[in-house]
Amino acid sequence: MKAFIKKSYGGPEVLKLEETQLPTLQPNEIKVRINANSVNPADWHILRGKPYFSRLIYGLFKPKYPIPGADFAGIVEETGSACKRFKTGDNVIGANLLGGAFAEYIHVDENNCTLVPDGLSLTELACLPIAGLTAFQATHTYGNIQEGERVLINGSSGGVGHFCVQLAKNRGASVTAICSSKNKHFVESLGADEVLAYDKTNIHAHAGKYDLIIDTHGNLNFSDFRRMGKRGVLTGFTGVSHLMAVILQSKLKGFPIAQFTAEINASDLASLALQCSKGQLKVHLEKVYSFDEIPNAIERLEQMHTRGKLAIAW
Ligand SMILES: NC(=O)c1ccc[n+]([C@@H]2O[C@H](COP(=O)([O-])OP(=O)(O)OC[C@H]3O[C@@H](n4cnc5c(N)ncnc54)[C@H](OP(=O)(O)O)[C@@H]3O)[C@@H](O)[C@H]2O)c1
Repeated sequence: MKAFIKKSYGGPEVLKLEETQLPTLQPNEIKVRINANSVNPADWHILRGKPYFSRLIYGLFKPKYPIPGADFAGIVEETGSACKRFKTGDNVIGANLLGGAFAEYIHVDENNCTLVPDGLSLTELACLPIAGLTAFQATHTYGNIQEGERVLINGSSGGVGHFCVQLAKNRGASVTAICSSKNKHFVESLGADEVLAYDKTNIHAHAGKYDLIIDTHGNLNFSDFRRMGKRGVLTGFTGVSHLMAVILQSKLKGFPIAQFTAEINASDLASLALQCSKGQLKVHLEKVYSFDEIPNAIERLEQMHTRGKLAIAW
């Protein structure tokens, strides 16, 4: 099969499209023929082996897992002997945090996948797993948004942020969203009640008060959380020292900020797919790339100014 392979750490230029073999299908795994992918910031962090502590998982001196890519949508071609949830021909979406998705096929644990309702675009749904699950777990699991709460969402125009705005509105919250001024109308179109442009307003002096602050970009200071919020959720990452400073201060000063890595959870993923099928959640695609342009998609994502998501069609 064709797959993008990385033999060393580096930028998108280290990715080479090559012929390679799939490993043996394990009893708990399904074989999926990939129709579409999306790219996530984790793809370029893992590709570059940064932050360096990530190399403890992904390979100390060179990449341990040669095929990158987490998010995929596709069709089940084969099921392992212990698989119970899928059959050949099913349309599925899923993710594998250790990679393997930027390829024609993937062998993946069936519990990392969910069935896709009929009539939906696989290219759009390929964008749900990592960004959608992060947004779902930020708004539901960790944020526990209640109807009528005031929620501030930073980084609201990106992959995670644009899902957070919609999911918070679906929970009945009043949403104030932060993005750049060029994305103000886009974020309003997602349902935000108020939009603050970070290039026109000094967010670090903003005096608004909120029940919950969700920082999907990861540049709010601890003082911002405490000044404006009653509780916080932090999913974004702008640097190790900033992240550590926010978490440490939250622990020392007893102000609740939940920081987490998205769990690939089939039931949360099914809930997201259902909301898509009902038209309650929309995937905004900034651009659809062809499979051989995956390095270009990663290059664009690395600029950290994507509007919505970038998808790949195989
Ligand atoms: N914890 C987890 O499990 C998890 C999962 C997924 C992602 N993440 C992290 O979450 C972050 C966002 O991921 P993503 O997929 O949403 O990335 P993305 O699609 O690249 O979106 C990045 C967004 O950041 C916004 N942004 C850039 N500069 C900003 C600033 N100064 N203030 C506020 N917003 C700013 C951009 O908006 P403008 O273009 O309007 O500036 C853009 O929409 C990344 O750090 C990623 O590593 C964590």
